[in-house]
Amino acid sequence: MDQASELRKRMAHRSGPRGVSLKTAAVTSGKGGVGKSNVAVNVALALQQEHNNTLILDTDVGFANVNVLLGSGAGRTLLDLAQPGVLASDVVQTGPLGISWISGGTALPDWIQLSRDQVKVCFDKLMDLESTLDWVIVDTGAGLSESSLHLLESVDQILLVTTPEPTALADAYAMIKVLVRRSPSARIRIVVNRCRTFSEGIQTFQRLVEVSKTFLSFEPGVMGYILEDPAVGRAVFRQTPFLLSAPDSRAAQCVRQIARRLMGGEEVAPAESPPSRRGWREFIWKLQHALGRG
Ligand SMILES: Nc1ncnc2c1ncn2[C@@H]1O[C@H](COP(=O)(O)OP(=O)(O)O)[C@@H](O)[C@H]1O
Ligand SMILES: [Mg+2]
Repeated sequence: MDQASELRKRMAHRSGPRGVSLKTAAVTSGKGGVGKSNVAVNVALALQQEHNNTLILDTDVGFANVNVLLGSGAGRTLLDLAQPGVLASDVVQTGPLGISWISGGTALPDWIQLSRDQVKVCFDKLMDLESTLDWVIVDTGAGLSESSLHLLESVDQILLVTTPEPTALADAYAMIKVLVRRSPSARIRIVVNRCRTFSEGIQTFQRLVEVSKTFLSFEPGVMGYILEDPAVGRAVFRQTPFLLSAPDSRAAQCVRQIARRLMGGEEVAPAESPPSRRGWREFIWKLQHALGRG
């Protein structure tokens, strides 16, 4: 059975209001190259392993590489939805463990060339996926373009990835500053990636909390720590996510803990309230706005 018909079958069998409980999280960073795509792909797979139907949406248009990490070809992209007769299920690809993913496409100019109506057609079709999914993990580009800010405002929560490097930390702070100015109730949770020890990770997080509290009166939450681990680089070379190729590695253990926290199965700081829920429709609507502006 091809992937599209497999998904259509899943959609047909799912009559309950699953989309109502669909949760969305975006993985982002201030500085590039800090591990966003690896976090997005492996956390999504850890959610899938816990019986959540999970979709990875690759919106790093121009540098899309979720497909590379999953060891898959480029295939169809969100852009193809603009074509008549192409359904949402046709652009959803199936990866390891049956995870779903959609490529945002590799050429930003292609999006800009679409008319506003064509963009609307794409996103109207995406609405059809609502009933098939429990989680959507959005991989984003680094930095502060207007379209990525819109995108970040469209999800329930933001996982902001940084490393302990001062430059990454400074860029993470800059990102928090802009996000909080735009929406003071933004739910931002920090992932410190590539820390050599957990105490280095905790110190990095605390530094970010201190400066955010002092200058922004905002306290970001912690999502977790991922240790520096050669298994990550090896997995990237083999194009198999480390959660699957090295399930006992330190990085995989860290990622599973993050997935458990996301699912709410782990204690979070008492001050943290649950993320506000925006739902699939609002998410798609805002995403359309984000990408429609180009
Ligand atoms: N925890 C880690 N341990 C070791 N290397 C890592 C780790 N996280 C990321 N890397 C390295 O950083 C590179 C960039 O990661 P990637 O997820 O593509 O970053 P981004 O999406 O932020 O640009 C990876 O190819 C990998 O070699
Ligand atoms: Mg990336």
